[in-house]
Amino acid sequence: MSGMTSGNANTYAPLSSVYWEGDHLVLLDQRLLPEEIVYLQLSTPEEVWEGIHSMKVRGAPAIGIAAAFGAVLGGMQYESVDSKGWLEQVVKTCAYLATSRPTAVNLFWALDRIKLAAEQLAASNLEAAGLNAALLAEAEAIRAEDEDVCRRIGENALPFFEDGMGVLTHCNAGGLATAKYGTALAPMYLAHEQGLNIKVFADETRPVLQGARLTAFELQQAGIDVTLLADNMAAMVMSKGWIQAVIVGTDRVAANGDVANKIGTYGVAVLAKAHGIPFYVACPLSTIDLNTASGADIPIEERPGEEITEGFGKRTAPQGIKVYNPAFDITPNEYVTAIITEKGVVKAPYHESLKSLFE
Ligand code: MRU
Repeated sequence: MSGMTSGNANTYAPLSSVYWEGDHLVLLDQRLLPEEIVYLQLSTPEEVWEGIHSMKVRGAPAIGIAAAFGAVLGGMQYESVDSKGWLEQVVKTCAYLATSRPTAVNLFWALDRIKLAAEQLAASNLEAAGLNAALLAEAEAIRAEDEDVCRRIGENALPFFEDGMGVLTHCNAGGLATAKYGTALAPMYLAHEQGLNIKVFADETRPVLQGARLTAFELQQAGIDVTLLADNMAAMVMSKGWIQAVIVGTDRVAANGDVANKIGTYGVAVLAKAHGIPFYVACPLSTIDLNTASGADIPIEERPGEEITEGFGKRTAPQGIKVYNPAFDITPNEYVTAIITEKGVVKAPYHESLKSLFE
């Protein structure tokens, strides 16, 4: 298991949020952070579905990785040696896991990749144990590639950051949301490795507080200069001149460059534009969905009203109040200065530039 301690102050040795061990999936229960560090062992697709749905694991790349391993667990439950039946079981498990959350396209991307691998394997002469081992290797490849991809996103983002800069981020697009490094937080970790001091301002991110509980936690653990803000303070710190760039992650980028990310991101983008501050989005290619034309076509998850009326166990609104609780919003492409990926940095017009990333 990954530890949190490090010998060198600038060495990034984070907690791993999702990994395979022996015959089961291990998830760090992110709902309990930062107070408790609890690792869960998951052995069935149902447990993985629930872990994604209840946000024990969250963040677009991390839920894709968890779902991929969940599909492997589905294949392992198939007891016969018939590869056709095994494939049907894997495909059925993928369809089931795809219903766990709707917005992050990485979930569907990872499940499609597992399905394709399963189809190819089922057409081979492998026996049941071999099929499951090979599918597990594919899920592990998805996890390992994400770590590498995130580091490359960080390398491509790093030129936008200078020593002493103030950078605001929203939600958690860090190591906890990915295999390692994160997307939006990857350049902070790389800058820190190089001895640069970036002052990060983390929005607390109502109502689930990913900024306060996760971003503030993981940056503080890494020894990075981080200041926590309530969401409604971003305009104030921008007007003071403390913020030179905003960088966020995303759950899905549409073909026209509209960006779905944690609720509140759109407001931050509008504020950044009003203050002449660049607004960067960092993501892997697996988050770019060229099959979705614009942000209007991205399904937005709505979560229980209790997250707002009695978040973390304390009632803070009248009983019976009507609540609207979308988990994500859409930032229109005109607010996005650049999208930073593992394959390079793209700018408007996004229709063309995003497509070029896949050529
Ligand atoms: O609801 P969450 O916590 O899964 O939302 C996460 C985000 O909005 C992240 O910014 C996004 O998934 C990118 S993670 C690299």
